[in-house]
Amino acid sequence: MTRGTRRTSWAEPFKIKVVEPIRMTTREQRLDALDEAGWNTFLLKSEDVYIDLLTDSGTSAMSANQWAGMMLGDEAYAGSENFYNLCESVEKVYGFPYLVPTHQGRAAEHMISQILISDGDFIPGNMYFTTTRLHQELAGGTFVDVIIDEAHDPAGEHPFKANVDLNKLEDLIDRVGADRIPYFCLATTVNMAGGQPISMENIRDLHTLCQKHGIPVYLDKTRIAEGAYFIQQREPGYADKSVAEIVLEICSFMEGAWMSSKKDHLVNIGGYLALRDAEVFEQARNMVVIYEGLHTYGGMAGRDMEALARGIHESVEDDHIAARVGQVVYLGEKIAAEGIPIIQPVGGHAVFLDAGAFLSHLDQEEFPAQKLAAEIFLEAGVRSMERGIVSAGRNKETGENIRVGLELVRLTIPRRVYTQAHMDVTAETIWEVWDRRDSITGFEMVHEPQYLRFFQARFKPKD
Ligand code: F0G
Repeated sequence: MTRGTRRTSWAEPFKIKVVEPIRMTTREQRLDALDEAGWNTFLLKSEDVYIDLLTDSGTSAMSANQWAGMMLGDEAYAGSENFYNLCESVEKVYGFPYLVPTHQGRAAEHMISQILISDGDFIPGNMYFTTTRLHQELAGGTFVDVIIDEAHDPAGEHPFKANVDLNKLEDLIDRVGADRIPYFCLATTVNMAGGQPISMENIRDLHTLCQKHGIPVYLDKTRIAEGAYFIQQREPGYADKSVAEIVLEICSFMEGAWMSSKKDHLVNIGGYLALRDAEVFEQARNMVVIYEGLHTYGGMAGRDMEALARGIHESVEDDHIAARVGQVVYLGEKIAAEGIPIIQPVGGHAVFLDAGAFLSHLDQEEFPAQKLAAEIFLEAGVRSMERGIVSAGRNKETGENIRVGLELVRLTIPRRVYTQAHMDVTAETIWEVWDRRDSITGFEMVHEPQYLRFFQARFKPKD
């Protein structure tokens, strides 16, 4: 920026104290690595990866304050001091009085699904998430997607693509009856729709409708701070509210919430179930001792709970969240500037390439997003993940592949880990793959696990 012009750049609200070396490999090494990994980026070894954008889950850099907290771990089996600090953070930032700690989000999903769902129930929500839906199905339920149609349109610029279509919800209530709907499963940013947010107005209207029918709303609170930031930036009446205030307002409509702390909370492991209902809490507190550990640590060490208790407060600081989302948007705009199709608007945690449009010559059953993720790795060691037909799995009745509307590759940005230069190299890598897109062929799936197949499936290139 030259002198005399207005300053428009922003910088991260931190400086770096510790660094971790990464190395670039040769194309031959990457080809061997892909072959060994069945061409699935989940099966690559981390040491073969140059820039790791597989996930923002558990991959964040902790602050000096969090590391200091690690030294204060109270590793008592029962009643650890760090547990009470965690309860205090959750009550202060989110307003939930009861907490059951777990080792990560899916353990909390397991418990809430087993407690609330009976065989034959329906669980409406704003688009599925892989582990969430599986736990609902394993508990005997059927997930019903009632997100607005705009969520399925990658190029559409709707500011709140995660909004619930209340007409779709009313249709479901009319069809199956409110007594077959144990709860509404809400997400404040929808991972599978590209990290898109929901508006406060829609949350309020949803709550009113659900209340009328006696249906409690439970929140998948994962990445709530990013959702709150978008409300602050886009929704009339919220520009002067802090992210912390918006987060608290969202939670005020919720009967309970589960959390994968590995995202927003800037820790490498952790999660919990946060509740208002004393009876549900009592059941969860009892169940956690079977699957996770005692109710005052769940699956976490005392030191992990302390880092988490501190990370919760950092996660809702306005300058932190503006820089976090700012970096994602920077990458998205740089990729899109070359005419490459991405989900618009850019989401909070990741840039999602529209692989269906990127490799439009491939059929969806040739796994275009899976192949594109492999090609991006082959190009320059940048690791991303498939979020399309492989992640969607099979219809539990017909056994057919679910041909989802969104066939995506996710470039997920860990928090406070990479620099703007890493984002530049990533964008340039995508440009290179874009230039040779017409020569890219599809995949055949040669190994398919029964559950959450995207984690461990193996593929073979058709050429
Ligand atoms: N809900 C959402 C919206 C998620 O994104 C995740 C995890 C979970 C629940 C489950 O939490 O991993 O702690 O057990 N998402 C990761 C990802 C795996 O890469 O998006 P978990």
